[in-house]
Amino acid sequence: MSREKRVFKPSAEFASQANLGSMAAYKRLYTESVNSPEKFWEKQAKELLVWRRQFKKVLKWKAPHAEWFGGGALNVCENCVDRHLKTERANKAALIFEGEPGDVRTVTYKQLYFHTSRLAHVFENMGIGQGDRVAIYMPMVPEAVFAMLACARVGAIHTVVFGGFSAESLKDRINDCGAKLVITADGSWRRGKIVPLKQTVDAAIEKTPTVQTVLVLRRCGNDIKMRDGRDVWWHDAWLGAPNHHKPKAFPSEHPLFILYTSGSTGKPKGVLHTSAGYLLGAKLSSQYVFDLKEDDLYFCSADIGWITGHSYVVYGLLSNGATVFLYEGAPNQPGPDRFWQMIDRHGITIFYTAPTAIRAFMRWGDNYVLSHHLKSLRLLGSVGEPINPEAWMWYYRMIGKKKCPIVDTWWQTETGSIMITPLPGATPCKPGSATLPFFGISPKVVDDKGKEVPKGSGGKLIIDKPWPSMLRTLWGDDERFKNTYFSEYPGVYFTGDGARQDKDGYFWIVGRIDDVLNISGHRLGTAEVESALVAHPKVAEAAAIGRPDELKGQSLVVFVTLKAGNEPNDDLKEELRNHVGKEIGAIAKPDVVRFAAALPKTRSGKIMRRILKEIAAGKEVKGDTTTLEDFAVVAALQADD
Ligand code: WT7
Repeated sequence: MSREKRVFKPSAEFASQANLGSMAAYKRLYTESVNSPEKFWEKQAKELLVWRRQFKKVLKWKAPHAEWFGGGALNVCENCVDRHLKTERANKAALIFEGEPGDVRTVTYKQLYFHTSRLAHVFENMGIGQGDRVAIYMPMVPEAVFAMLACARVGAIHTVVFGGFSAESLKDRINDCGAKLVITADGSWRRGKIVPLKQTVDAAIEKTPTVQTVLVLRRCGNDIKMRDGRDVWWHDAWLGAPNHHKPKAFPSEHPLFILYTSGSTGKPKGVLHTSAGYLLGAKLSSQYVFDLKEDDLYFCSADIGWITGHSYVVYGLLSNGATVFLYEGAPNQPGPDRFWQMIDRHGITIFYTAPTAIRAFMRWGDNYVLSHHLKSLRLLGSVGEPINPEAWMWYYRMIGKKKCPIVDTWWQTETGSIMITPLPGATPCKPGSATLPFFGISPKVVDDKGKEVPKGSGGKLIIDKPWPSMLRTLWGDDERFKNTYFSEYPGVYFTGDGARQDKDGYFWIVGRIDDVLNISGHRLGTAEVESALVAHPKVAEAAAIGRPDELKGQSLVVFVTLKAGNEPNDDLKEELRNHVGKEIGAIAKPDVVRFAAALPKTRSGKIMRRILKEIAAGKEVKGDTTTLEDFAVVAALQADD
């Protein structure tokens, strides 16, 4: 793997103030939690959630269908908002927002209550209530959070669609779930320009028979068309609504939201999460993984259009009464140091982002970081893909100044909350490993027959016990739900990831199974090769893929982008091949090194290796490219062929 073999223990200073401050405490609680999971979750559910009706049965498990906290009833919005009003948090900031143009707003918990209450009335007046679907296509502004919470308040099921998705993708998602209401804004600020959200909605809903109303927030003031009888301005609807709204109680298993995510094949899957179990998972993990304290200011750079935004911008944090920092725009507007500026300006204490972002920061250069203090930071997080040890070290040194623990959190849209993660006051970290399972979670690395493999061997990652925040089904397609997640190993959740555990039991995620290469009978993770390449001083980002090869089964092709100031030439290609060979072994020496100006990525920043595979094989790029951030990147790679 990487040269980085050091282990980073939490400092005594951090551990002494942490919500969980020792490995002994982690081990005790973890063992208890997986030895008697129902007892553990019952206790947590009673302590952490506000119930309107106490549940009778902790878990009914008829694989693959789970019913958690049966007989219970609660309101998720009440758990995130109303519950704080009787405490000292009433006038505490729930949200601190900074728009891309620099406008700043604070929303206290009391104000959050008025906003969600009034919006709940607006929904009810529109005939939106229990079980109705609402599509949210919004910028990262406080109103997007109000919209999600107001849905929860009236029992409507939201489906947030990332504002970067096309009209076509939006239409498909609206039609798949049959949304009656679409909530959007005139536009959103991105790199100094207006993204015309309402215009995209207009195009999408030409072919969506179920949509009756479009609620439109004025954000950018750009010119838009409002259609009579269908489109309603947010500010008009809001002004007429009462301040107080009494939230109804809904059963524990009442659907909370649908979130679409791409699979390896077919159209996006509508992952369904329900109320009590989801909220419990998000709340408990937020508290421990981010070591939340009353005066923290927490910033997660993910958009609410992703599961990270759902669990770790909205539900997990607000249910804990935390202050969440929201940022609307691009990380490099007006310059590459926007995040560092905001961290200093607002005093952000916890920062959660993705490896792809970290590699971008590295590429932009240290000077953009070094011109800021970053003194307020005390904890860093990473999510979305394996973090290259090189990127981990940079994050640790440059951003965390060697005093902030890093939590590398492994989880998925489907798992609802963090599954494998360090606890920052307890777990010694090994750069590149998500380390150990969270409370109540039972991941295993198994072979094709489902038998646990010995430590050190690679296998498939499963989770062999149900957990409260697990997906309940795929919207409208329970068969696909069973086939995708519970057929590989009957009755057991299959993550689709490959992994191994080291001698200390630490989990190393190799990546999606389809990203695992087999070269001359040797298993090779794309992540390993990429980590090696990124460890080279001239490399900014790398993607490794397999190309069908008669001799080896697969040959290794790598696409590489260089750090500014380096020249792509044949000597460097040879240097990089040798470098990987040296880092991993001769078997991993790339057969082909290709330089690229940029790599094709999804809007959530995942490299689309499927597309690179097609390009490397000299094939036409086929299949779904709707999740691609920028098609021009693919065109450039093909032209270069
Ligand atoms: C897939 C899930 C859940 C938040 C964002 C992604 C990969 C996620 C890590 C990590 C290694 C990771 C896995 C997983 N992944 N976090 N810390 N280390 N891999 O959600 O889009 O549902 O993707 O992302 O391959 O299966 P998602």
